[in-house]
Order: sequence, then C-alpha cells, then structure tokens
Amino acid sequence: MRTITVIGIGMGSPEHLTLEAIAAIRAADAFLMIEKGTAADELVAIRETVLDRVLDGRSPAVVRIANPKRDAADPDYRAGVDRWHAARVALYSDAIAGLPDHAHGAFLVWGDPAFYDSTIRILDQAATGGMAFTLKVIPGISAPQALAAAHGIPLNRIGEAIHVTTGRRLAAGLPHDLDSTVVMLDDGSALEALNPDGLAIWWGAYLGTPDEVLVAGPLDEVKADILRLRREKRAAKGWIMDTYLLRRTAG
Ligand SMILES: C[S@@+](CC[C@H](N)C(=O)[O-])C[C@H]1O[C@@H](n2cnc3c(N)ncnc32)[C@H](O)[C@@H]1O
Repeated sequence: MRTITVIGIGMGSPEHLTLEAIAAIRAADAFLMIEKGTAADELVAIRETVLDRVLDGRSPAVVRIANPKRDAADPDYRAGVDRWHAARVALYSDAIAGLPDHAHGAFLVWGDPAFYDSTIRILDQAATGGMAFTLKVIPGISAPQALAAAHGIPLNRIGEAIHVTTGRRLAAGLPHDLDSTVVMLDDGSALEALNPDGLAIWWGAYLGTPDEVLVAGPLDEVKADILRLRREKRAAKGWIMDTYLLRRTAG
C-alpha cells in the first residue's frame, strides 16, 4: 500500500517547518507538485528552497501534476469548483498510480492543509474513486497564525470567537455578532468595498517571506495606503497573497 502524506510547510520560510514536517519530507520517496503557472512560479521556487534545506543533497523523484484551469468566469461558482476538483481528482489519481507499490508520496501544502486548501478533499475523492493509499496529514503554520505573530497580537479578544472567512464572503458584510474576523483569499475588492467606519485592521502580505509587509491601524486612516501598497507590490512581483484581521472599535 502506498502512503501519501500531506505536509503543511508554513508560509515559505524554512524556519516554519515543524520537526514532524522535516521528518515526513525526509521519509518521502517522491514529491507530487502541482504546477500552477506563471504567477505561482516564485512559490514553486520557495518550495524547492525549503526542500533543498531539508533534504541535504538527497533528491527524491518529483512528479509534476498539471493544474487544470478553473473557469473563474463561471457564473455558478460552486459548480465550477466541483468540475475543477473532478479534473484534479483524475490527475492526482494518475500521479499516485504511477508511484511504486509501497512508495511514500508527499504533497507540500502552503501554510496548513486545513485552511482553504483542497488537497485533502481531492485525495479523499481519489480514495472514494478506488485509489488505495494510506493518508497522513502534517499541520503547518497558516496565514492567520503568521499574521497574528507578525503583528504580535492574539486573534481573539478574551473569550470571544474568531471568524475566518474569504473576500468573496466578506463582500456580503461582516457578521453582526462577531468582532474578530480574519479575511483570506481577497483580491482586494472586498477590502476596497468595505465601509471603514468603526473598524481597525491588521494587514499582512507575503507573510513569512523576505518581502513581508505589514500595516495596522484604524481602517479609515490606513485603507488607502493598504490598497496602494497592494497594487504596487502586485505589479512589481506579479502576484500577491495577503491576509487581514478586522475588528470593531466602537459599540
Ligand atoms: C489558497 S489559500 C491557502 C491558505 C493556506 N493553506 C494557509 O494555511 O494559510 C491562499 C490564501 O492564504 C493567504 N496567504 C497565503 N500565504 C500568505 C502569505 N505569505 N501572506 C499573507 N497571506 C497569505 C491569503 O489570504 C491567500 O489568498
């Protein structure tokens, strides 16, 4: 039986790897890498740097899996994502079937596999479809954790809940009864559309990398700066990933 390990590697700094992740990387016979295309080339390079640091010259096989393109213009978001997942299930199954019988294959997942990452879901569907393997998951440092650490803050107020959501969902409004909301996967438009009154923000982009940039303050004072920085950095690097915490300051 093959073993497939999904390894959370943190935000790109080799220092984010846990000892468990390092052991799992060293135990892998093959790395299954999704090719995400130009904007993500630098992320692939960061992953390769992480591997170089840990593998000490050993070079396990690298199996590259083409990433089918999701139709972002599909008006039915959920159905579009389902179709995209189905294509990925077939590609992942083929890649696993290509590994020797008792091999250890590993997926390196950005951050933590439990936060807005489809790898586990796709592998579950591959298993349901008849692909036999043992699944292991190693947690990693996720963007909300890296954000909180970089700003030196806890994410919650004492005894209160933390709401983690996406830019797409934030566009529908902040939950009335929740004060601390972490937003991921925003292309900038949800922040731009947000009414800044009575809100504070802790924002971070390229967290855990040498390009990390942080801004915090009352949203009405810093929103324009964040949006400008976002545009400038994205234009300069070709990609941006940012995460932010919003908190009500009044009421
Ligand atoms: C597909 S999700 C992956 C999340 C990842 N699994 C995690 O644990 O953080 C991508 C989103 O994660 C956040 N993110 C990932 N890397 C980041 C980084 N280095 N700095 C800031 N945000 C990041 C951004 O909100 C981005 O849109």
